Amino acid sequence: MKILIINGPNLNLLGTREPETYGNKTFEDYFSKLQFRFRKVELSYFQSNLEGEIINQLHEANHKFDGIVLNAAAYTHTSVALGDAVKAIETPVVEVHISNTHAREEFRHKSFIAANAKGVILGFGLRSYDLAITSFIEDKE
Ligand code: DQA
Repeated sequence: MKILIINGPNLNLLGTREPETYGNKTFEDYFSKLQFRFRKVELSYFQSNLEGEIINQLHEANHKFDGIVLNAAAYTHTSVALGDAVKAIETPVVEVHISNTHAREEFRHKSFIAANAKGVILGFGLRSYDLAITSFIEDKE
């Protein structure tokens, strides 16, 4: 089973960025933990601060993975193009967020991804990624 995690803008700063909201772990550290926990899964990770690069990555990933875990970060709330990219590919995408975006500013309540995603997991801290991976594994069982 192959799963790709895609992180959007500013998530390269996890660990130091607003730790009260996003915690103090770097994603690289957390990714190592995920690789250990899901040893039987081939996990890949891509991060970009650029919208077009994330779109290209979604296109490239189509049919190459069993599932994509996407945290599009702020682009979630702004990008019609990212929503369209998720709709355009056939590989299922689970949208994740570290924070509970519905408990935050109004502009974070809107997602251009959600309607085209398989599901949405948010508000569980980094564990949102774990839950998304688990959902793909359980779907296959
Ligand atoms: C986020 C929530 C977004 O609103 C924000 O812009 C982020 C991170 C999250 O994981 O909680 O950058 O996607």
